[in-house]
Amino acid sequence: MHDTKENSFYEKLKLDGYCLIKNFFSKDEIDDLRFFVQKNRDKNKDIYLSIIETKKGKCLLSKRYFDLLKRTLGENLVYYLDSDLLVDTDKKTIGSFHIDTRNDDEDPGTSDYKVWRVGIYLQDHKNYSGGIKIILSSHKKLLLSSFKKFFNILIKILKYKKKYSFKSFLPSFNFVNVPSEAGDIIIWNGRTHHSGRFQRLKVFKNFVLHPFFERLFPKFFFIEDKERFVIFQNWCIAHNSSKNYIEYRFSEAKSSSYWKNNKSDFNNFPMNEFINSSIKVKGMNK
Ligand SMILES: [Fe+2]
Repeated sequence: MHDTKENSFYEKLKLDGYCLIKNFFSKDEIDDLRFFVQKNRDKNKDIYLSIIETKKGKCLLSKRYFDLLKRTLGENLVYYLDSDLLVDTDKKTIGSFHIDTRNDDEDPGTSDYKVWRVGIYLQDHKNYSGGIKIILSSHKKLLLSSFKKFFNILIKILKYKKKYSFKSFLPSFNFVNVPSEAGDIIIWNGRTHHSGRFQRLKVFKNFVLHPFFERLFPKFFFIEDKERFVIFQNWCIAHNSSKNYIEYRFSEAKSSSYWKNNKSDFNNFPMNEFINSSIKVKGMNK
């Protein structure tokens, strides 16, 4: 039994909406994971199916990795084969603030969201650009970064009689360029406001800008990106919020071939490792 209450990552995730786990993977594991990402970047299926196929990236199947997730997220973990690989050249644009929730109409100020994104950035973003920017404790806030988003919330309140607490409307401006390095793991809540591919200033390199100014300022203001290899996974705890999330993902038109590939390859899924760590695997038998 893992006691999440005594785990500082659990506390940090609950309080700040994200946590940075330092130096989890060894140098050999980092090299192996980078090779794994490069080799499988075009495979449109869950990473564990590619891990079995290529025998690379096996540290993500280790009890040590699963135990860390359980200590940080909770005991009743569920995996829906929802993951992604990213290589630098796949997407070059500076992101804008968004959240990863789907089908979530609850008040973030008073309810929990039980879907998290695990990001394994396999290079230095402490000294270079290209990492993830988050807004501290924003998982308790509504994202009202555009007129459209504000309008959508207004519709939910007026038409669907949804209720949101006053504090969920109070914005936070505490931006963090997460200083991750190769070997680290970043976990953030689906509701945490975040933006991809931050730009690190050459002067005052720890000063964090809003993505709007990162897009506005000339390139030479910023330190260049490192070649960017990232592994993303979605992990859930059995809960209404994760049920709604995954129902949306399963029915998303643009992901239909991803789920089809997962289903047809499901016999190769390393179920034993998940069972041995008491992690439920769901969704593929539908
Ligand atoms: Fe995101």
